[in-house]
Amino acid sequence: EKSGYEHFMLKEIHEQPKVVRDTINSVLKDGNINFESLTDEEMQNIQQVYIIACGSAYHVGMAAQYVLEKLTSLSVRVELASEFRYREMQLAKNSLAIIISQSGETADSLAALRLCKEKGVKTLGIVNVVGSSIAREADNVFYTLAGPEISVATTKAYSCQLVAAYLLAMQFAKARGEITEERFAELIAEINTIPEKIEKILEDKERLQWFASKVVNIKDAFFIGRGIDYAIGMEGSLKLKEISYVHSEAYAAGELKHGPISLIEDGTVVFSVVTQSALYEKTISNMVEVKSRGAKLFGLTTYGNYNMEDVADFTVYIPKIDNLFAGSLAVIPLQLLSYYVSVGKGFDVDKPRNLAKSVTVE
Ligand code: M6R
Repeated sequence: EKSGYEHFMLKEIHEQPKVVRDTINSVLKDGNINFESLTDEEMQNIQQVYIIACGSAYHVGMAAQYVLEKLTSLSVRVELASEFRYREMQLAKNSLAIIISQSGETADSLAALRLCKEKGVKTLGIVNVVGSSIAREADNVFYTLAGPEISVATTKAYSCQLVAAYLLAMQFAKARGEITEERFAELIAEINTIPEKIEKILEDKERLQWFASKVVNIKDAFFIGRGIDYAIGMEGSLKLKEISYVHSEAYAAGELKHGPISLIEDGTVVFSVVTQSALYEKTISNMVEVKSRGAKLFGLTTYGNYNMEDVADFTVYIPKIDNLFAGSLAVIPLQLLSYYVSVGKGFDVDKPRNLAKSVTVE
């Protein structure tokens, strides 16, 4: 049931404020995070975290890595499930493997989970589908409450996975005594603002629709960003390729000059995600570099960073929020953008060619 929306993807994009709220509320009580899955003592003893996933869930892992590293002393590695399972990795003692999966049935993620268990590594699934294989086999489960996701391109499950990762990182920091009470309370207050801020961005979707109509015929695109913004760029880029069939590459902004910048020519579209204050100037200078080679720049930043308009040809602002959570807002315009490009090209948005909702083959 599309409830009046033209496609499931658009419906699911609009469900995000609610399902993100539900996922937060499922563990938040009186300013505390209640996990049944991992005890504080277990959290204190863990030293190494492996985050293992595929596709968009892997991009959540990339963002989660920055947040975990910022808030805790944990050592974190993010791994593609299809690579991890064939490596001969020495898995550290006292480690936790976090498997992120919407469907809970992705063959490589499931195989990676089994491998971790065989090697005696404790496992936690961040899973959306109740009773799925990963949910059943993981030692612990944190369920995202996105509800059924029909569109092949994930949106709402991705957003719920992101907040689940933030909550997990915050609780790790708290259990390990690595965060002050003030900062913890501040983050709780901030995380609670995500749903209403996503709502605000969605109210402005016509602007993105207009912009999408200008780029509907592009053949190539680049996404650049640093830190969390790089992780969000990866997701924006995947969305654009999978439903709009635009060849797109995401690069860590600092990597551009190590090769890909040679591809920039007059009119090449570069989407720049620039929400992280500490990295703002650095990414802006990368934008200037590609602009001087003819790139058309789309800038995605936070309200207040108005000098973005000096360099970008088109700027989209997201509401202010703690830097750690900015990805949850920045991804929304990118979802809308790929949606409108796909619609503009007349593609089957919910069922892109060659793709399945759940990848149960290896
Ligand atoms: O069900 P999973 O979260 O394990 O699926 C992982 C990927 O197949 C999935 O995120 C895929 O990349 C999506 N189509 C992206 O929109």
